[in-house]
Amino acid sequence: EPESLFVRATGTAALLRTRLPEALHHPKLAIVCGSGLGGLQYTVNQELKVEIPYQDVPGFPQSTVPGHDGKLVFGTVGESSTPIVLLVGRAHFYEGHDMGVATYATRVCKILGVEIMIVTNAAGGLNQTYNVGDIILLNDHLNMAGIVGFHPLRGSNAEDFGVRFPPMSDAYDLELRRRAHAAWKIVLDRTPGNPRRLHEGVYAFCAGPSFETRAECRMLRTLGADVVGMSTVPEITVARHSGIRVLAFSLVTNKSVLEAGVRGDDPQVQGMRKDELEEFLGRGKANHEEVLETGRFAAEDMQALVKQILADIHKP
Ligand code: 6GU
Repeated sequence: EPESLFVRATGTAALLRTRLPEALHHPKLAIVCGSGLGGLQYTVNQELKVEIPYQDVPGFPQSTVPGHDGKLVFGTVGESSTPIVLLVGRAHFYEGHDMGVATYATRVCKILGVEIMIVTNAAGGLNQTYNVGDIILLNDHLNMAGIVGFHPLRGSNAEDFGVRFPPMSDAYDLELRRRAHAAWKIVLDRTPGNPRRLHEGVYAFCAGPSFETRAECRMLRTLGADVVGMSTVPEITVARHSGIRVLAFSLVTNKSVLEAGVRGDDPQVQGMRKDELEEFLGRGKANHEEVLETGRFAAEDMQALVKQILADIHKP
């Protein structure tokens, strides 16, 4: 009989523990750092910090995307002695990994003892009231890839983790969201003039790797999505399957193009020189560099927010 997912993840957790001091054997909280948000690792206290590259962990795939170098960072943050683990870099479905591979780290986190997972990502803004650099606290999702069959829980159910038909209606923990808003207030009070806003919104998970067409953006918006991205939902689905509580944030790195495309027979376009046309077409086009650059720009606020949430969660 093939080794079960539970047995395999238990083996991986045991292997990780051989590299950790006793104090870090049971992290209570995991933080998944998205594109350009790996800076969260520097908030981990230096004294009790252990980094383990994904290469050293069987079952953890090597990331193939620049800006997503993969490693686990174990440690504590701030005054608290509660052990946590950061996942710096993640495996995406679009890289060619199976959903099971993309969510294996979440399984291992569960075995390690993680009770709460904070997931971050860079996403495109569909809601026109959002600005680049805004932080969106997710309160629901559209699992576009999952609905059509690319679902992380497809296949025989791992009963040791959870039930066959898990609910997702309560995936975005209200109690944690309430705390997140309170934490954001504290961060804003500390940084007067901070232009960033904390919205709540719905995340649409598309498989990628291409960014959406204009028509796809309009479709997603019509369906109720506020942001769109290529990650997060598989991890959250697997986390909820095993009862891990979830808090998730998107950083808006670019605004998606919602206006319909221009027709080739539009007189405005007909009259344009080639260079004018090129400039016109370049507007609102998503690109990976922009995504990473905005991550750098707004990462500090996101870090401050997560750090403040940790301080609050750790309070007895
Ligand atoms: Cl516009 N789309 C998707 N799918 N992912 C993104 C994005 C857009 N911007 C950042 N990540």
